[in-house]
Amino acid sequence: MPTLFLTGASGFVGFQILLQYLRTTPEDHLVRAALRSQREATRLRAIPALQPHLSRVSFVEVPDIAAPDAYDAHIACHPDTDGEERTAGEEQGGGAGGVKEEAQVPDVIIHAASPVPCPTQNPYKDIYVPSVRAVENILSSVRKAILLQQKGKKPPGERKPRKVVFTSSLAAVTPHAPPAGTHEEEETDPEEKGTGTKTSAWRIVHISETSSTPAEPADLQSLRPAAMYSAAKAKGLALVESFCETTFAETGDMGTGIDVDAVLPAFVFGPDERATTRGQVMGSSNALLLGPLFTGDAAGGAPMPIAGTVVDIRDVAQCHVKLALGRPGLGRGREPREEDRRWATPGPRLNKFLCARDADWNALLRHARAIAQEKGLVVAPTPRGEAEGEQPEEQKQDAFISLPVDIDTRATEDALGIQFRSPEEMVADLVTYVVGLPD
Ligand SMILES: NC(=O)c1ccc[n+]([C@@H]2O[C@H](COP(=O)([O-])OP(=O)(O)OC[C@H]3O[C@@H](n4cnc5c(N)ncnc54)[C@H](OP(=O)(O)O)[C@@H]3O)[C@@H](O)[C@H]2O)c1
Repeated sequence: MPTLFLTGASGFVGFQILLQYLRTTPEDHLVRAALRSQREATRLRAIPALQPHLSRVSFVEVPDIAAPDAYDAHIACHPDTDGEERTAGEEQGGGAGGVKEEAQVPDVIIHAASPVPCPTQNPYKDIYVPSVRAVENILSSVRKAILLQQKGKKPPGERKPRKVVFTSSLAAVTPHAPPAGTHEEEETDPEEKGTGTKTSAWRIVHISETSSTPAEPADLQSLRPAAMYSAAKAKGLALVESFCETTFAETGDMGTGIDVDAVLPAFVFGPDERATTRGQVMGSSNALLLGPLFTGDAAGGAPMPIAGTVVDIRDVAQCHVKLALGRPGLGRGREPREEDRRWATPGPRLNKFLCARDADWNALLRHARAIAQEKGLVVAPTPRGEAEGEQPEEQKQDAFISLPVDIDTRATEDALGIQFRSPEEMVADLVTYVVGLPD
């Protein structure tokens, strides 16, 4: 039976992938989801949205995604030191993975687990190391599966995954510090803001499927959480690219028959089907937008510089699921553009898929507030001071410094037959979703 091995299923993105996969696929498609503990499994089993599908999901424990060989028992057979491999089922309770039940080599792997930016005293240890090591561990297990099959120890087609999808991030291909310079921008409505043109100390960053990962910062160990996260995602993506080039070449190019994809989402928000109360919707990247909506300020009270690009959780999940089920014909009835050609030619390459829409975060916030007020939701006034009506327009403070980014997602949308929701639609759906939840 087709089996998906999914990491990160307890998270915002991973849970939506899990649901969408189960809702889209026939009954014979199974999911094995790796979680830190069985306690997490109990928590997920209790979520109403998952309950109709529980018979098709099993949970396995991977207590430490950074531990060497963390995923071997779930993805590949274990080569012993004497060269003999054991199946995951024979590995009962042993190894870093601590398998609890008979496991089969999955057809598809989606790796969505990763620490995201969070307050920590040691961002290198808490964000970079687990994020990067988990990618290394997935790759190492996949490589073992390929090599075992190539040695003829298992019947062809039965003992290796056919597809691996990595959840990366746009942060992985965005320069660690946006290039300095002065960017002049025409205000769309000079009357409204009264400034005519405004300048910002950032250049527009252009990102497409062919953008490469930036070099690792020299001061890696001392980066703050958000920059550490970007560096970790860049390193992870670079490792996957290098894997595609070296391992595929070493094992006979496309003879491996494994397709490797990376999904690069912008800031994700949208309905969080794990949540049963309004407060729980804040336990994800939704908090970036909803935080200022409910508090009136960006985090810490100061405007937050943030790349002006967002994507809906449902679109991100759909990309993953479409890739897991097999990408439809590339180019979809059109001659591929020069930069897409590599997709149409078989070769040991990583396929990157960008999920993003350009957006101005302050405009999103204004839109969210208007909809929330219309629906009777109590929100904080933004910008600050507006409620009192005391501050002149020019002294009001935006919650965000929304940095312009130019992202070309046409190749992704064409290849997957997806049209990403507009930021306005995303905001309207999210606010409506929040309003529908109990306090
Ligand atoms: N949300 C966004 O805006 C966004 C944008 C671009 C890319 N992404 C990518 O999407 C993926 C999921 O992000 P998310 O927003 O869903 O974050 P999330 O809600 O925090 O989920 C993260 C997932 O990774 C697991 N995880 C994190 N650190 C771990 C560790 N040290 N050991 C074991 N498991 C660990 C979490 O498990 P626990 O539940 O046990 O902690 C959870 O399942 C990540 O790869 C992230 O880089 C997210």
